[in-house]
Amino acid sequence: MTDLIRAARAAAAFAHAPYSRFGVGAALRLSDGSIETGCNVENASYGLSLCAETVAVAKAASKGRLADIVEVAVIGGTLGADGALAGTSPVTPCGRCRQVLNEAAQMGRRDLVIHCAAAEGGAVVTLRLSELLPHAFGPADLGL
Ligand code: THU
Repeated sequence: MTDLIRAARAAAAFAHAPYSRFGVGAALRLSDGSIETGCNVENASYGLSLCAETVAVAKAASKGRLADIVEVAVIGGTLGADGALAGTSPVTPCGRCRQVLNEAAQMGRRDLVIHCAAAEGGAVVTLRLSELLPHAFGPADLGL
C-alpha cells in the first residue's frame, strides 16, 4: 500500500495544474504487480482537463491492461510555488473517475481497493470502489 501511495505522490510531481493549483497523482497496481501512474493534466479550456486517475487508467488500457487493475492510490493537494503538495484531507476520486475506474473493475471482475491519501499528515482512507460508487452502471449491464 505505501509503495503505491509513494508512486502516486511521485506522479503528482508531474501534474499540469496551473489553473486550479491542485496537483493529483494516481497509481494503479496491476495483477502482475507492476504499477501504472498518472497525474492531472489541465487545459486552458478548463473543461477539457484530465484527472490523474483517468490518465492512469487510459495508460493501462493503452497497454492492454484495463482488466488487470487491482488496487489504486490517489493523492493530491494544493501546489505550492516550490511544487510541493499541501493539505491534510485525503483526496477521493471524482464522480467521473469513479465511473472510469468501474469500467476497469467490472472488466476484471474485481471490486477495486482504493487508497485515498492526503498530501500531508499521513491520513489515508481505504475504500472499495463499490463503496464509492454503489449500484454502478457498467459493462455488466451491457452483457459484458
Ligand atoms: N482531480 C483529479 O485529478 N482527480 C480527482 O479525482 C479530483 C480532481 C483534479 C482535476 C483538476 O485538475 C484538479 O484536480 C482540481 O479539481
